[in-house]
Amino acid sequence: MKVALIAAVSADGYIAQTPGQRSMDWTSREDAAFFIEKTREFGVVVMGRKTFETIGRPLAGRLTVVMTSRPDHGRNIHGLLEYTSDAPGAIVENLASRGFGGIALAGGAKIYGEFLRAGLVDEVYLTVEPVLFGEGVRLADGIGRMDMALIETRMLGASTVLLHYRL
Ligand SMILES: NC(=O)c1ccc[n+]([C@@H]2O[C@H](COP(=O)([O-])OP(=O)(O)OC[C@H]3O[C@@H](n4cnc5c(N)ncnc54)[C@H](OP(=O)(O)O)[C@@H]3O)[C@@H](O)[C@H]2O)c1
Repeated sequence: MKVALIAAVSADGYIAQTPGQRSMDWTSREDAAFFIEKTREFGVVVMGRKTFETIGRPLAGRLTVVMTSRPDHGRNIHGLLEYTSDAPGAIVENLASRGFGGIALAGGAKIYGEFLRAGLVDEVYLTVEPVLFGEGVRLADGIGRMDMALIETRMLGASTVLLHYRL
């Protein structure tokens, strides 16, 4: 079971300029297309409740798993939307037992950090957008140093670069 962290980052390494900001407000169409392609490939996306609220709806054709301490807060829709208070390891085990070959980890910072600290992330996809925020939400806090191996770099359109790493 592969867990792939997928994030759009500013050129100075932030995933949002302000907490609660919608990624679609600053990311490119090419990044959106890559996100759709990758998440359709895996069939399941895991994200935090705050990120889900910035999107506002489950992603068509994929299972969206929303992490929250209050899973009764929202209504599950079979095969499309599930709320869970499970820990990262239990989520991975559960999805593996259901036959998913990979998980797209879609943030935000809290969720990226928890999966990274638990050693559950196998690959990292960063799409670097041509913008500097100067301040904002970092990819993940408190993870310490993690060395990665660069697998691939690719231009997504004229201005967006995809970096693909193995952890
Ligand atoms: N650039 C990108 O690619 C990208 C991607 C994703 C998000 N973002 C940005 O990141 C920001 C949101 O990140 P964030 O760190 O503030 O929030 P987040 O990670 O999206 O969500 C945090 C919430 O997830 C739930 N949660 C986290 N760990 C949990 C656990 N172990 N068990 C149960 N529930 C758990 C909690 O929900 P409850 O409070 O309901 O308990 C927590 O408040 C937004 O600005 C968004 O735009 C950027």
